[in-house]
Amino acid sequence: GTPASKSDKTVTLKIDGFDVTVPAGTSVMRASALAGIDIPKLCASDNLEAFGSCRLCVVEIEGRRGTPASCTTPVADGMVVKTQSPKVQKLRKGVMELYISDHPLDCLTCAANGDCELQDQAGIVGLRDVRYHPKQTHFNVRQNGEANPQFIPKDDSNPYFTYDPAKCIVCSRCVRACEEVQGTFALTIEGRGFDSRVSAGAAGDDFLSSDCVSCGACVQACPTATLQEKSVIEMGTPTKSVVTTCAYCGVGCSFKAE
Ligand code: FES
Repeated sequence: GTPASKSDKTVTLKIDGFDVTVPAGTSVMRASALAGIDIPKLCASDNLEAFGSCRLCVVEIEGRRGTPASCTTPVADGMVVKTQSPKVQKLRKGVMELYISDHPLDCLTCAANGDCELQDQAGIVGLRDVRYHPKQTHFNVRQNGEANPQFIPKDDSNPYFTYDPAKCIVCSRCVRACEEVQGTFALTIEGRGFDSRVSAGAAGDDFLSSDCVSCGACVQACPTATLQEKSVIEMGTPTKSVVTTCAYCGVGCSFKAE
């Protein structure tokens, strides 16, 4: 969920009735995961600083108003957290419904089908129907053949991956991975509100002409098919993986050095 705390001090709190002791500075999300309770999430990840933008991880905390994001809320001694109350379940479902209402419903032909966090999390929060049916999704081609003034084409310029703004949920994981994992600042969020989108470098740049070094950290971080390896698009997702023990090839001959 969120990076581990390095603090030596510990804090004890109650999560869904269970006493949990974790290092001070741990997020409520991580403390829950350590207690075996996975809170739905989209913008959080184990290796990126918490960002708190997707609002899927909301919880209730006794004595606090509102429903804070568990990924950005640190634990405190004596805190009492509810992660599965009807209120937060309803909120998460509503948030997910809004995400899906602006997402192309092409899962069956999407390269990320079966390997998509948006798809997984929609199932986890129990979303079955979407009440909002726009004529088109934002940034995408219109289904009825009309021109879409907001249409932004896919960026195919990088030799290794594609960027499809129509599938982006603006979780900023790619932007943060570029900065925090790679130490490059090739990506930014451009525009505001509904018009915000990931952009490579200055306006008008594509990925190839930006500062991107093709490290793949952004593709790895993306929870949808917005950033997608070209090999996966062409060949599909892997159906098996091979564990290799030697560093020289990926054949998986299980050669063991003595
Ligand atoms: Fe906490 Fe996105 S996972 S706000």
